[in-house]
Amino acid sequence: MSDTVRIFDTTLRDGEQCPGASMNIRQKMEVARQLERLGADIIEAGFPVISDGDFQAVHQIATEIQGPVIAGLARCVPKDIDAAAEAVKPAGNRGRIHVFLGTSKIHRDFKFGKAQDEILRLAVEGVKRARGYVEDVEFSPEDASRTELDFLAKIVEAAIAAGATTINMPDTVGYATPEEYGRMFKYVIENAKGARDAIFSAHCHDDLGLAVANSLAAVQNGARQVECTINGIGERAGNASLEEVVMALRTRRDCFGGVDTKVNAREIVKSSRLVSRMCGFLVQRNKAIVGANAFAHSAGIHQDGILKERSTYEIIDPKDIGWGDTELPLTKHSGRHAMAVRLKYLGYHLSEDEINQVFDRFKQIGDQKKFVYDDDLAALVEDQTLQPKEFYSLDYLNVVSGTSAVPTATVRLKEGETTKQDAHTGDGPVDAALKAVDRITGRRGALQEYQLRSVTAGKDAIGEVTVKVDFGDGQMVTGKGASTDIVVASARAYLSAVNRRIAMDKLPNRAQAAPAAPTAEAGP
Ligand code: KIV
Ligand code: ZN
Repeated sequence: MSDTVRIFDTTLRDGEQCPGASMNIRQKMEVARQLERLGADIIEAGFPVISDGDFQAVHQIATEIQGPVIAGLARCVPKDIDAAAEAVKPAGNRGRIHVFLGTSKIHRDFKFGKAQDEILRLAVEGVKRARGYVEDVEFSPEDASRTELDFLAKIVEAAIAAGATTINMPDTVGYATPEEYGRMFKYVIENAKGARDAIFSAHCHDDLGLAVANSLAAVQNGARQVECTINGIGERAGNASLEEVVMALRTRRDCFGGVDTKVNAREIVKSSRLVSRMCGFLVQRNKAIVGANAFAHSAGIHQDGILKERSTYEIIDPKDIGWGDTELPLTKHSGRHAMAVRLKYLGYHLSEDEINQVFDRFKQIGDQKKFVYDDDLAALVEDQTLQPKEFYSLDYLNVVSGTSAVPTATVRLKEGETTKQDAHTGDGPVDAALKAVDRITGRRGALQEYQLRSVTAGKDAIGEVTVKVDFGDGQMVTGKGASTDIVVASARAYLSAVNRRIAMDKLPNRAQAAPAAPTAEAGP
């Protein structure tokens, strides 16, 4: 059995699927490029049949990313498989179709109303259709961990015979315990004919906080692919976190038969920050590996021990995962070239025009604060170039507020060549500014979440605001904005959500546009 565990990153599919984490195509491309640098073996880039946006993202990633395998997800339904095949086509022989079908009794009875034989037939047909397009086909019996073991082995055997090269057995609802999940792998690998010719894969959700432990138990029992996401983002409580799985395997090789991944661990912290920034999910301070406190030792006795010998209280050298990579802050005297070089180092792919736009903002910020750090630059890039800009941009904002003033905001927005201005009062300057924006755009958004964080230390730090807004249909739209003025940052964040909502309204929905679906295609 191979001693390499493949890392299948599903940040852009299962991760992005969680409410409020959606990314636009530019943001997905930045994440995909970072995953390539990180050394992910497989990038699951999306679920192409779901929407034109998903299809385009998978297609573009398959076109531009070299190295990793690019996977597109599909139900065992012809139109899904055809869309996935078309989307991953530019990747050539690095294209993978990942087909899935619910196999547990609960799914069979309540989602499909179908008996085991019928489910088995649909799985085989799905795998065969996918094999008609690509050599690399992954099959997932959804809710595998709640599927009867004998039926699971039977359907896995049939899928392998039909041409599946990877078998992923998900703990879809995060119900399994490590011992149980490991036993399932052992049983299926020992009992499904042809199992030795396929790669077995773990895919765990964190509903009971066991996603990483379950993934590791699967590896101990023969899995050689783990599906995971950066920062553990994903449906509900999230997926297994990539950085935890990778570092657990690497740090405790003695417990896992010496297996390892090909991940370039020095890219881990950068990947975590980028994903957090792109999808607007902050990383909790005490998160293992990538949380701000993960290597902070406050107890005096620990600090003393670390100074004498790092390994007294640290099991990983933080430098090995990219903490504290030397950062030379820029200042207002730094030129465009120095800034462009730094942006390239940070992994951004910007056109000359975009670099000029960021440089204009950089000079403004440089006048307001002494040093411009990497995180400041990343916030500017995100704010200036990666947000949808087509519809409205902030031209002018003036607020009156204070202990004895009625908070009032005057806002002017640009919409193409025209400008529109209005004013509003509110409970505070942010409330007033956002209400003035609503008045101009004619869209009333309900602010469901508002987060403000200072990008770096210092009273002059850039404030980065992340908002999640519901425009009346229950769907959460994320927006981000940055400025040394937090009211301006708030208005920018809100406007980026408005712009994103307008962009979403303009996209046709492929799944809805497609002909009526047969019963067997209920989604994940
Ligand atoms: O959790 C799950 O079962 C999934 C499948 C689509 C693999 O995400
Ligand atoms: Zn999942």
